[in-house]
Amino acid sequence: MHPTLSIAIKAARRAGQVINRASLDIGQLKISTKQQNDFVTEVDKAAEAAIIDTLRETYPSHSILAEETGLSGPQDSDSQWIIDPLDGTTNFIHGFPQYAVSIAMTHKGVLTHAVVYDPGRNELFTATKGGGAYVNDKRIRVSRRTKLDEALIGTGFPYRSFEHIDAYLAIFKEMTRRAAGVRRPGAASLDLAYVAAGRLDGFWEFGLAPWDMAAGALLISEAGGLVGDLAGESAYLTTGNIIAGSPKVFGQILQLVANHRGAALTA
Ligand code: IPD
Ligand code: CA
Ligand code: CA
Repeated sequence: MHPTLSIAIKAARRAGQVINRASLDIGQLKISTKQQNDFVTEVDKAAEAAIIDTLRETYPSHSILAEETGLSGPQDSDSQWIIDPLDGTTNFIHGFPQYAVSIAMTHKGVLTHAVVYDPGRNELFTATKGGGAYVNDKRIRVSRRTKLDEALIGTGFPYRSFEHIDAYLAIFKEMTRRAAGVRRPGAASLDLAYVAAGRLDGFWEFGLAPWDMAAGALLISEAGGLVGDLAGESAYLTTGNIIAGSPKVFGQILQLVANHRGAALTA
């Protein structure tokens, strides 16, 4: 295993311990609201601190972009960590067992390492560029399904910004009619890991942050799938709009979404 990936795994497991401990008593959680429907707990913050401390011990010269503390470290570094310490906070607060730790590394803007860790199920999804994708050391591949009408598709509903709600709902309606099933589990990084593992055949969501997508995107490409923005290009970390899937299903989601793209929703 690449040494950088083992450090990322160590960091994710430490955050997982913080999350698992707190999950035993969610009634005690102090919850604050960042903006409408956007919550943060002391668990998000403690998990992020555990990750950053672990990464900094070995890589003090790397830059960090993390959800709760933003940008830190030297900004001229070629290497950047992109961290979501607890993806699926709303689920976590409710005791709904679908949340994860997401850690990715980029070198000169290219994704090189990824960890998505589901601490409740102790499922560890990992990838290194060129080295394939794994769950708990077992190789994973995207599904072989080629037809949308046989596909199980994941998504995330808009809940913070409602700018694209009409376009989203039109896409949702068409997807519900055409796919075998649509799911909204509530933790984008884990949804993407499930696409990599072939548990979902495809995924789409708008308005995500880079830390929701970075690790999951590398997992999917290392598992033989495709990830893109709404134009099918690679700017999803910047636009926040993502489509992913096994190659054939990716193409069909892209086409379906294209039918509903408007002036405000281009890429
Ligand atoms: C959220 C989850 C959710 C997605 C949201 C994200 P958070 O992350 O990934 O599935 O729909 O857009 O913001 O806030 O729980 O880290
Ligand atoms: Ca998130
Ligand atoms: Ca989060």
